Amino acid sequence: MVIKEAKFLVSNTRVDLCPAPDKPEYAFIGRSNVGKSSLINMLTHQSKLAKTSSSPGKTQLINHFLINNEWYLVDLPGYGYAKVSKDSRESWRKMINFYFQKRENLTCVFVLIDSRHEPLKQDLDFINQLGTMGVPFVLVFTKTDKQSSIKTDATIAAYVRTLKKTWDELPRMFKTSSVDQTGRDEILKFIDEVNAQVQSQ
Ligand code: GTP
Ligand code: MG
Repeated sequence: MVIKEAKFLVSNTRVDLCPAPDKPEYAFIGRSNVGKSSLINMLTHQSKLAKTSSSPGKTQLINHFLINNEWYLVDLPGYGYAKVSKDSRESWRKMINFYFQKRENLTCVFVLIDSRHEPLKQDLDFINQLGTMGVPFVLVFTKTDKQSSIKTDATIAAYVRTLKKTWDELPRMFKTSSVDQTGRDEILKFIDEVNAQVQSQ
């Protein structure tokens, strides 16, 4: 897929204020600082489309972007930022759950995982919750430029082992680096294929 146009549409905390659900939607989520916004900028080749930051917790809202006038890309606020109060963690949980349950055009969730870490309970809980809710998702292992491919593959193998204990079918997995563009072609090809499936339905 060639990205001809990528534009920011709207940020909000409410599903009913999101753009009309008339196009396939792909949402990016994961622990704070995992590289969601950077990946969106890498995919769209626009360095400042989604706001990135070296301090966690930058993205607090549901941010909609329109790509090629064909599909929506959504930057969601991250989870697991230690300095967040119990109240804001609870409001994050409510907002995200509501979004997953009510957003009728939500086509696939990209769960971003830092490729440098062993499976973390927080990520596994989140993945299992998506599975239980029946939300289609894929896994994206980020920041692969920061270590050898052997180490990245070991992280992925550990996830596969852990997920196999509870799930019969494993999700698609992608390796990415927003620094050297790893994974860009694979993810855009995947979205292209899913868009074609949605259109033919
Ligand atoms: P929140 O919105 O705070 O949840 O964070 P986020 O998940 O959107 O992360 P963001 O894209 O802002 O990136 C966080 C930090 O990681 C920034 O300093 C990025 O430059 C860095 N980063 C993101 N992706 C990569 C990557 O693939 N490689 C390297 N080396 N650094 C990355
Ligand atoms: Mg962000």
